[in-house]
Amino acid sequence: MNEINYQEKIPNNVNLAENRRLQRALEAWQPGFINWWNELGPIDSRSLDVYLRTAISADADGWADFGYVKMPDYRWGIFLSPQEKDRTISFGDHKGEPVWQDVPGEYRGLLRRLIVIQGDTEPASVEQQRILGSTCPSLYDLRNLFQVNVEEGRHLWAMVYLLHAHFGREGREEAELMLERHSGDRDKPRLLGAFNEATPDWLAFYMFTFFTDRDGKFQLGALAESAFDPLARSCRFMLKEEAHHMFVGDSGISRIVRRCCDVMRENRTDNPREYGVIDLTTIQKYLNFHYSVSLDLFGAEVSTNAANAFTAGLKGRFNEAKLTHDDHQLKDEAYSVLQVSGDVMRQTDVPALTVLNENLRNRYSGECLNGVNRWNKLIQKCGCDFQLQLPHQAFNRKVGDFKDYHISPDGKILSDKEWEQQKDNWLPTEQDRKFVASLMTKPVSQPGQYANWIAPPTKSINNLPADFEYVRFD
Ligand SMILES: [Fe+2]
Ligand SMILES: [Fe+2]
Repeated sequence: MNEINYQEKIPNNVNLAENRRLQRALEAWQPGFINWWNELGPIDSRSLDVYLRTAISADADGWADFGYVKMPDYRWGIFLSPQEKDRTISFGDHKGEPVWQDVPGEYRGLLRRLIVIQGDTEPASVEQQRILGSTCPSLYDLRNLFQVNVEEGRHLWAMVYLLHAHFGREGREEAELMLERHSGDRDKPRLLGAFNEATPDWLAFYMFTFFTDRDGKFQLGALAESAFDPLARSCRFMLKEEAHHMFVGDSGISRIVRRCCDVMRENRTDNPREYGVIDLTTIQKYLNFHYSVSLDLFGAEVSTNAANAFTAGLKGRFNEAKLTHDDHQLKDEAYSVLQVSGDVMRQTDVPALTVLNENLRNRYSGECLNGVNRWNKLIQKCGCDFQLQLPHQAFNRKVGDFKDYHISPDGKILSDKEWEQQKDNWLPTEQDRKFVASLMTKPVSQPGQYANWIAPPTKSINNLPADFEYVRFD
């Protein structure tokens, strides 16, 4: 059952052939998807042979197969994690009841909205990253970019399948709209702010995969708890693919940090830009930007939608079923959140059910902090006197309680004037972006070679030799 059927036009492990109507509807959506990929997917990539992994099974071990693929021929398909026998709902009003294989009528609208919002982010990131191939720092990195891109395409398939299979005509319409909205489009933008920002250079790409893909991990983790079993199983399999995306970000930033520190040490300089590498101050500014826009993705701190989705059993907390410290209904629980009023910020206890977004965001921030600590260890080891920092949660926010305030990275409330005077010290300026872009003007396409601004990876894909030709040009 978990083996994936590759004989069909749409590879799947959901017995698609048994439901002719659904199969036909999805086959009718498929050409639009391929068109979208060719028009808005990675530029100049159609004829490249890329060493990619493709899912062959949804089981925990040995789920992927590696080999050269031309990306338009990638086998995008529908893969759900194995069904858990006798799974019951672990939270909300329906706690203890069997999970649902169909959508209950009363939750249709809310559930569709959750799936659409998740689905919309997947093609958005492909659009945002489409030009990066032309300035790749190595074939290894180019291959990783493409791996992330094809899998985000597959994540769109995962959500489109749910829409087609469970939401009738409205679901099919939503699936069409997924290909009509585009990142940064003035008339039809993507639904969430961070997915309309540009990803203009590779530092931004690694920051995106570290911070924004990690938001994806936490959203998927919360949806993987859903009482709607097909959604939970889809998200569980997506999470497996997502892990690599965050690895790409984490290791990419580590390599840039390492290169910067090496150059500073070897040349006894505090100005590594002179040597054509990215300085730690610029890395910090990018970090500030990507972390703050990713925090916005969790939504407003106080949210009735989130409370309703939880009570209905549609979206839990991260690892909900494994949490042991409360009753999973949260009717009488309190949760401490940071609130601002006038010129004071303070922690306040509020009903836990009303601040589930904040709960998820806090778990997310903890993981981000671990990454920053790892990078700081690298910096310390090189003997450089610098520490990267996660900015305060209220810094540069466009969504939620803090959006009407200017807050410094260390959490001070600022006047408009103070903000204007200092914001260029905290967020990438035009010049910073130009400098970063100036290092990335052409691709490095010799196997085993790396751009000057980034250290080679510490290990290869699939234990291949360091000079493996991850991408073949014809
Ligand atoms: Fe994704
Ligand atoms: Fe991702």
